[in-house]
Order: sequence, then structure tokens, then C-alpha cells
Amino acid sequence: MAQQGLAVVFGALGVIGRYIVGRLLAEKGWSVIGLSRRDAPAGPRYRHIQVDLLDAEACRTTLAALTDATHVFYTAFQASQGAAAGYAANIAPNLAMLVNAMTAIAQAAPALQRVVLVTGTKYYGSHLGPFKTPARESDPRHMPPDYYFDQIDWLTEFQRGKAWDWVELRPQTLCGFAPGTPMMILPAIAVYAAISKELGLPLRFPGKPGAYGAIYQVTESSHFANAALWAATEPRCALQAFNITNGDFFRWKHVWPRIAEVFEMPVGEPQTINLTQHMDSMGGLWRAMTEKHGLKPYDYHELVAWPFADYVFGCDWDVMSDVTKSRRFGFHAVVDTEEMFCRLLARFRQERIVP
Ligand SMILES: NC(=O)c1ccc[n+]([C@@H]2O[C@H](COP(=O)([O-])OP(=O)(O)OC[C@H]3O[C@@H](n4cnc5c(N)ncnc54)[C@H](OP(=O)(O)O)[C@@H]3O)[C@@H](O)[C@H]2O)c1
Repeated sequence: MAQQGLAVVFGALGVIGRYIVGRLLAEKGWSVIGLSRRDAPAGPRYRHIQVDLLDAEACRTTLAALTDATHVFYTAFQASQGAAAGYAANIAPNLAMLVNAMTAIAQAAPALQRVVLVTGTKYYGSHLGPFKTPARESDPRHMPPDYYFDQIDWLTEFQRGKAWDWVELRPQTLCGFAPGTPMMILPAIAVYAAISKELGLPLRFPGKPGAYGAIYQVTESSHFANAALWAATEPRCALQAFNITNGDFFRWKHVWPRIAEVFEMPVGEPQTINLTQHMDSMGGLWRAMTEKHGLKPYDYHELVAWPFADYVFGCDWDVMSDVTKSRRFGFHAVVDTEEMFCRLLARFRQERIVP
């Protein structure tokens, strides 16, 4: 197959970036350069570069060599101290990283064709409380601060008059099999279920009562990577934004019994607990379970970020994006979310991450 492109993936080791790297490498025509502060081994058609995107000079010198880059996937993210509450504090580092990365690569790569910027449903204020659903790409923004707005506004201005174009993708709660990547809901469900079972408890939904029945949505990581490849190569996507989710909606109260089946557990009545407070101290129990059940030896906190699970299970309002626009523009893939939960959680058991 002819060479399709040299992709530069910023944030290549992240929840999103690693799947995009994998997806591109599965296509023979692509070579990939991944960037992040941590190092990673090279592989066939893959090279990894360590760089701190907050360091403008380091970006300029490091990226100057990437003269053949044709596509950029921007998936880097740096959470400020105070995490989700620090909405305003997230702006400065995340805008600076994008500015440094894009300024350097745009200068280095005359053949650059397209930039895929990953934002998310937080564009609509999905993290703040109830919002207009289903959310459409043309909906007005929520009241700032939101670093997505700063990134989008800057990139809009920066791209003007350039030969390349860009596209923005808005996913929701990525789901994949990526043990050791704690900011995901699947390992939290898997470990919570396994500990409940070990303690002889039924599988109780631990979130807010309203969250059990509210409508929610997720994006399977591999599905998102397919969408990113589509967005990078479909000419009509230029200068557009797209919601990218599995394409269906669910309520936890319908999915929960199916999750209990995967773990061969009875379903209990929901009981709200603060997972961060209740589960954080169970590292000792987890170590004992790892030995008893012959599990892969992951550090407890490498497996799960409980505050992230509290956030997802705390959404007692509907979270819905309309994906009609991506379908109209030609991306028709969908994922059956209930089937996805069963398939991916079963894999956590099969691969001995949880018993
Ligand atoms: N995860 C989700 O469920 C989800 C859902 C919707 C939207 N999003 C959005 O998607 C974007 C990416 O999120 P993510 O969840 O994939 O993030 P993530 O898993 O935390 O990954 C962030 C990546 O950025 C790199 N990075 C961070 N600071 C850096 C720096 N100073 N210099 C170079 N690289 C740096 C990290 O690697 P190093 O630490 O090695 O540098 C990592 O590879 C964010 O805007 C997020 O809001 C995510």
C-alpha cells in the first residue's frame, strides 16, 4: 500500500493517544511518531520522542526534525493540581502545550495536511450538571472557564491562511482494556466488583441514586481511534467538530445486572458510597487478593483512580451527545455499549487483572 502519512501523536501514552497510535500502526501506509514526557520503546514504523510540551524551546528544537509529518493527532493533557475542580487552572498549561506543539510542528512540516484536536463532551458543560440533551456540535458553549474553548479559539486563529486544516472530536468517557491506565471507568468497575465479591457482598451500584437511572454514554477507545483515523483522512471533515460516542445511550440500572453476570454475582440495591473514601485504603486487601487468586501484580493505585469513578457515577443528570453529524459526514460505525461492557470486563477476568 502506498505511504499514507507520517502521523505525529502528541500525548501518545495517554488513554486516547495510545489507541490512536495502535490504530494507525495497524494500517500499513502509516508511520507514527509519538511524543510525551515519558519514554516508550520504538517498534516497526513507530518512534517515540520524549519532550515536555510546556517547554517551547525544547518543542522547537525537537520537532524541527519532523519535516515529513503529514498529520497531527493532539491528545496531550496535563491535569492541574486540584484536578476536576481546577477548571481555570487547567487553561494555562493545556493552552501552552498546544501552542508550543502546533507552532513547532507547523513550522517544521511543510507537507502538514490535517490536525485532529481531541476535546470532549465537557465542551457542553456535561461535567457541571444538567445541560441541553442530546448535545449538538452547534450548541452554544457553557459559561467559561473551559480549556477546550481556549484551545479551539487559539487553533482557529493560528490555522487561518495555512495550507493545512483541522478537525475537533468530542468523545465521552473512554472505555478500553488498558490495565495500568487508572483514569478509566472499566478498571474501577472490575476492581470494585472483585472486592465486593471477595467480601461476600452483592454488586451494588455505588453512585448517586439519580445516576443509576439517568441516561449516560461512553466511547469505546478502539471505536474512537477509528473515528480519529476517519477524521484525519476525510476531506469533508476540514474545519468541523464532531461528537464521537458509541452512538447509543444506556442507564446503569439496565447495564448493572449484566455486569453482575460477568462477575457471577447477585445484584444488590444501589448504595451510595464515596469510592475515594471507601476504596482508597483497600490496597492491602488487593495485594492479598493478588496473591490468593494469582493475579497480575499491578499496584492498586496503578489500576484504579477512584475519584474518576466517583465523578462518572455522580452524574445524576442525562449525558447525551447527538452523533448525527458524524453519520452525515460518513462515519457510520457504532458500538453496542452493553455488549462492550461485558466483553471488556470479561477480558479483565480472563487476563487475570481481577479474579
Ligand atoms: N479519557 C477520557 O475518558 C476522555 C473523555 C473525553 C475527553 N477527553 C479529553 O481527551 C484529551 C486527552 O485526555 P486523556 O484522557 O487521553 O489524557 P491522559 O490519559 O492523561 O494522557 C495525556 C497524555 O499527555 C501527555 N502529557 C501530559 N503532559 C505533557 C507534557 N507536559 N508534555 C508532553 N506530554 C504530556 C501524557 O504523557 P506523559 O505523562 O508521559 O507526558 C499522556 O501521554 C483531554 O483533553 C481530555 O479532556 C478524555
